Amino acid sequence: MFVRKHSKIGEKMNKQNYRKEENAQSIQWFPGHMTRTRRQIEKSLSLVDAVAEVIDARIPMSSRNPVLDSIIKGKPRVVLLNKCDMADPNKTARWIQWFRTKGIPAVAVDCKSGKGLNGFIPAVQEVLKEKIQAWKSKGMVGRVIRVMIVGVPNVGKSSLINRLCKGGKADVADRPGVTRQNRWFTIGKGFELLDTPGVLWPKFEDKLVGEKLAFTGAVKDDVVDTEHLASRLLEFLAESYPQEIIRRYKLDGIDVAAYPGYELLEMIGKKRGMLVSGGEINTERASIAVLDEFRGAVIGKITLESPEEMR
Ligand code: G4P
Repeated sequence: MFVRKHSKIGEKMNKQNYRKEENAQSIQWFPGHMTRTRRQIEKSLSLVDAVAEVIDARIPMSSRNPVLDSIIKGKPRVVLLNKCDMADPNKTARWIQWFRTKGIPAVAVDCKSGKGLNGFIPAVQEVLKEKIQAWKSKGMVGRVIRVMIVGVPNVGKSSLINRLCKGGKADVADRPGVTRQNRWFTIGKGFELLDTPGVLWPKFEDKLVGEKLAFTGAVKDDVVDTEHLASRLLEFLAESYPQEIIRRYKLDGIDVAAYPGYELLEMIGKKRGMLVSGGEINTERASIAVLDEFRGAVIGKITLESPEEMR
């Protein structure tokens, strides 16, 4: 569960008490069952040949689990950059390249439309190439490949499983690894998927990660201050996607990167005629509009993290 560390509810934000950067809100995740989750995933890992890590293409780093490497311990892995319909295609291509340099085949997918999903099985076959060769040379022709899906909440694991399993057959046979909670779906010839994903936790100790997860809606808005969040998002966008916000919010002639996010929020509220009695700008309404429009990719196809930041 994500909870607010420093409650700001009821605290009216304004130019005076809003500070760029230093006011970044901390959001923490207290996972009651972190150890149990880890153990469950480790148990399921012994049943699969590979792991498919689902991440949000808009925040490829913040939507990852920080200790996945130590959990899966060298198990072959592919990465699915999901929600690519909302991400910057240029950055997605760079991220795919970045993962490849780490020896991890990565595929951009959109589980809403199903786009890109035909690249999933080939990516798994690629990462298992040597194993498949070894099975063949041992005469294990037609050895079934099994995969499990892992990822932090909201990245689209269930959507992916639903898409891949559409029309697939759940194997309820009495054989090892098949229990009521642990069923296998045939998703292609000789290819099976564990029907329950491994739900992991994000890097909750990093407040920027918490913020980015909140921008995308992975953190419920009732536990964060929407005005603060929208202000911070506008700062990110003003830096990396200035043209998109200028176009969307008709801020022509304004050097958006020079303003604190809260002032941008006020400009947007004013432009949109969002006023409360007395003529004051309704920044709360403006913040909801900005967050909704970002989450719906109405502002543009935006990715908040670049592989270059990893150096
Ligand atoms: P999870 O199992 O990892 O927690 O994620 P889940 O599949 O529940 O997906 C979380 C939200 O993301 C859902 O939206 C889902 O529809 C949306 N989603 C998943 N994949 C994609 C994608 O590739 N593109 C887009 N645009 N959205 C995607 P929701 O608002 O929670 O529900 P709903 O809109 O489906 O009703």
